[in-house]
Amino acid sequence: MRHLIEPMDMTPAEIDAVLDLAGRIIQNPRAYAQKCTGKKLATLFYEPSTRTRLSFEAAMLELGGSVLGFSSADSSSAAKGESVADTIRVVSCYADIAAIRHPKEGAAMVAALYSGIPVINAGDGGHQHPTQTLTDLLSIRSLKGRLNQLTIGLCGDLMFGRTVHSLIKAMMRYEQVRFVLISPRELRVPDYIRDALLLHKIPFQEVERLEEVIHKLDVLYMTRVQRERFFNEEDYIRLRDSYILDIDKLRLAKEDMIVLHPLPRVNEIAPEVDNDPRACYFKQVLYGKYVRMALIMTMLGVEE
Ligand code: NCD
Repeated sequence: MRHLIEPMDMTPAEIDAVLDLAGRIIQNPRAYAQKCTGKKLATLFYEPSTRTRLSFEAAMLELGGSVLGFSSADSSSAAKGESVADTIRVVSCYADIAAIRHPKEGAAMVAALYSGIPVINAGDGGHQHPTQTLTDLLSIRSLKGRLNQLTIGLCGDLMFGRTVHSLIKAMMRYEQVRFVLISPRELRVPDYIRDALLLHKIPFQEVERLEEVIHKLDVLYMTRVQRERFFNEEDYIRLRDSYILDIDKLRLAKEDMIVLHPLPRVNEIAPEVDNDPRACYFKQVLYGKYVRMALIMTMLGVEE
């Protein structure tokens, strides 16, 4: 049985196959409307979510399957002190596949150890978020036409942003990709990400000012400062508005750059940017549903 805890759990060929399947679903969604009839997806969300949980649920419903689950720790037996290990053992009796989001790093991996069904990590603390990465890869491939030969800027909270960690790990495996890491000094990527880039000799630079580098980017991936992972509110308040992408800054960028954001945005992209053709973060949301349809089918071993 396979689980998806971080992007490296899939080979590049497996990722390509999921993205290809998502592409075919986009072409003809009706052909997939019965593929998971009789199957159940459990969504175990111990942390807030709009897109990830609802896109998983919409994906399963559009495949003809059903969904069950909880959307906060308070409404599950976690509030009574039940462990993740026990919860997943129980859920394995009710569902065919589970997506879990938890505030603790490593929680999805623990669930996988005790699970009788495939487990998908839907975000574990400030660690990894592999299905957002599949969403991001499908968005980049669809909108830029390739996943290689790209200069990708990641901007904002690179320390706690799990989508950033997963996207870097996944994109590292494509040819001629360079990273521009834009963050305040305090919110630079964790050492394990920097070490992986150094080890694989992937070109990257770390800078503090977006204006200095925006002209070279093919993709600009904006992120929110992760308030819930800060130890004190004062630091959050000081750092939260470090970057605000507005029309003036966008004027410095290439005509064909794309702006992505895993959402929710708080203040880091001015609403005036939404009307610019380079703003692709709402298209990205739709890709997220289709790629999760493809992932669920793949992990359940459903034939096309
Ligand atoms: C992200 C997350 O939960 O890590 N949201 C998402 O899943 N699209 C990003 C964030 O919360 O900032």
